[in-house]
Amino acid sequence: MKIKSISLPDYSSNIVRAAKSMTISTRDLHVELQPDEVLVKMIAAPINPSDISFIQGGYAIKKPLPAIPGFEATGEVVDTGSNAMHFKNQRISCFTQKMSWGTYSEFFVADAKDCIPILKNLPEKQAACFSINPFTAYGLMEEIKQKRQRSVILNAAGSQVAGLLRQMARKEGIKVINIIRKPELKKLLEEEGEEWILIQEQENFDKELTIIAKKLNAHLALDAVGGDMTGTLLNCLPDKSTVLVYGGLSGKPLGNANPLQVIFHKKVLKGWDLNHWLAIQGKDRFDSISEKLQRMIIDGNLSTKIQNEYTLEDYEKALFQYIKKMSLGKILLRP
Ligand SMILES: NC(=O)c1ccc[n+]([C@@H]2O[C@H](COP(=O)([O-])OP(=O)(O)OC[C@H]3O[C@@H](n4cnc5c(N)ncnc54)[C@H](OP(=O)(O)O)[C@@H]3O)[C@@H](O)[C@H]2O)c1
Repeated sequence: MKIKSISLPDYSSNIVRAAKSMTISTRDLHVELQPDEVLVKMIAAPINPSDISFIQGGYAIKKPLPAIPGFEATGEVVDTGSNAMHFKNQRISCFTQKMSWGTYSEFFVADAKDCIPILKNLPEKQAACFSINPFTAYGLMEEIKQKRQRSVILNAAGSQVAGLLRQMARKEGIKVINIIRKPELKKLLEEEGEEWILIQEQENFDKELTIIAKKLNAHLALDAVGGDMTGTLLNCLPDKSTVLVYGGLSGKPLGNANPLQVIFHKKVLKGWDLNHWLAIQGKDRFDSISEKLQRMIIDGNLSTKIQNEYTLEDYEKALFQYIKKMSLGKILLRP
């Protein structure tokens, strides 16, 4: 049987050039599954910032070329290795970083440990985006609670991780100070009921952030942007604050931090990574978090915004729409 996949011939920091160089390739589906592997018939796969930086060659993982992009998807397990037979015919969501496969493919191979069984009522579109962002928001919410914060600063506040965090924060009565880069997003956040919204390019941004952070006693900023924004956050937060960097959307090195703030004002800069967080949870705890998150989605208490879907063949349109309007929600690719 022949299957179609998106094929990336070379990495390029110019995303338009990289997207234009990509093709749909056809290959025979002949796979000898290892004992812990599963073969998945893809149903839907989202485009995430990590997929964009992978295509640009700027992600933590580089696959041998030509590569199949895509790290996340939902699908149905159609075949398994000898240790993964319990997954046969299961609907799963997965976050896979296998070198010779990717989720932008009609079928793909994943490690069973990277697959999450999906409850029957979990909507397909939400299942496509289930393995990464809901767990990221959950893990980051734990950081907020461990630090006993009643308020938190989020940048890239139009992102889905930020949206999921806001949904969780509202339930806990935690106030969010939202930082966005496009002024038009302000209205959308106001309609959601958000009170504290700053535009990162606005005049007096640093001054306003300093005032609001002090007023709301916010000692934690969750930074998805990096670049100079990280140092700005560090400089503006009250004494003994932490900036937790979990994304590098600016594509720039961290900068702009005043060393005196770190030395004399006891401010801390740390990183946060989902893979590391998942590795220390243990299976029982992970399964219980997974079920809790799925129930929240099924009950309408948590959701990822989806703006559109395209077939694999229309990957170029999909990528360009996503890059232009990231805050409107995820774009899904379907076979
Ligand atoms: N550390 C981890 O393990 C982990 C796990 C999951 C996600 N993440 C990170 O979480 C972040 C959000 O992911 P997501 O899937 O929720 O994103 P998303 O929904 O696809 O949205 C991306 C958001 O980033 C904003 N953005 C893009 N470039 C920006 C820049 N240079 N400066 C400021 N804002 C920018 C976009 O705003 P516009 O509308 O202005 O374009 C949009 O709101 C990403 O950095 C991702 O890598 C990290």
